[in-house]
Amino acid sequence: MKILAIDTSCDESCAAIVDSAGSRLLADVVYSHVASMQKHGGIVPEIASREHLKALPLAVEEALKKASLRYQDLDWIAVTNRPGLIGALLVGVSFAKGLAYQLRKPFSLVDHIEAHLFSPLLADLEGGTSPAFPWIALVVSGGHTELFHVRSAVDFSHLGGTRDDAAGEAFDKIGKLLGLEYPAGPKIDKLVKEAGLDRKKLPIRFPRARLEGFDFSYSGLKTAVALEVKKSNGVDKAAYATAAQEAILDPLLEKISLAQAQLGVQQVVVTGGVACNSRLRDMLPNAYFPPSRHCSDNAAMIGLIAHLRNKSGHLIADSWTATASAT
Ligand code: KG4
Ligand code: ZN
Repeated sequence: MKILAIDTSCDESCAAIVDSAGSRLLADVVYSHVASMQKHGGIVPEIASREHLKALPLAVEEALKKASLRYQDLDWIAVTNRPGLIGALLVGVSFAKGLAYQLRKPFSLVDHIEAHLFSPLLADLEGGTSPAFPWIALVVSGGHTELFHVRSAVDFSHLGGTRDDAAGEAFDKIGKLLGLEYPAGPKIDKLVKEAGLDRKKLPIRFPRARLEGFDFSYSGLKTAVALEVKKSNGVDKAAYATAAQEAILDPLLEKISLAQAQLGVQQVVVTGGVACNSRLRDMLPNAYFPPSRHCSDNAAMIGLIAHLRNKSGHLIADSWTATASAT
């Protein structure tokens, strides 16, 4: 059972191949369009769609080559249909459907957040060991900040999430205010690390939104930074970046601790692009963080979901009328 997996939810064209019978990841290809987005200071959905049209077929060809397979060796096609940029998703879903039709093979739609959530299990497909259930899991990316209670690979519940901006979006937008290039998350991370400022002696402190339950909010923080930048003449970039990074990360830690205490779960896993952040990794020394290549967008995690469904007897083909959906 060879599964071709595709993800075009944002600005990376991703293709991967999973050998489900052998429980092995055979290929994992990511073509990033970040350079095109940088010219515009952020993601332009229309340009992302056009980049996927060019790059996705090449990513699929490369994945097949890496796995030493031909199109006719594929048994199943799995593709992200939500959430994400609607035009970008449509490119991936249409490509997957067209290929499945041509090959006379079934296809399945996979939720991108569910895939990020279970990406720690990719370790099992690479000869490593994944963390044991149950987990408190945080999916923290450019589009999402969602907390889950995960009891098994097929049993999980959503505890809460952002009510407005996602944590990664906060990194990107605040970075832009500080004059950093898109995507600003990794640049803030690097700037803060290199500056090594004493966090207790910063000249500025930004507010944290403290919501009830397990929800998050970052739009107020973004406005607070914008107002400070406007009124100050000459921003100390490193100090502002350090203070902003702390204000983004603190609520994540608070809600994780709250969930651990309320649900009596010790194991924490953190996934999604922001899980690459070095300060977040330092703040949670006992949490499981997948390797960075599995935290940011990839199709291996899409193939993993199809593989898990296959192993549990739940891999069911979606109907030809199934479509992409942005939410
Ligand atoms: O999961 P991902 O690759 O794409 C989405 O599904 O959104 O996440 C991308 C996000 C961007 O906002 C980027 O700035 C952020 O992850 N990011 C980081 C770091 N690396 C990526 N944020 C903070 N620190 C990092 N090292
Ligand atoms: Zn993502």
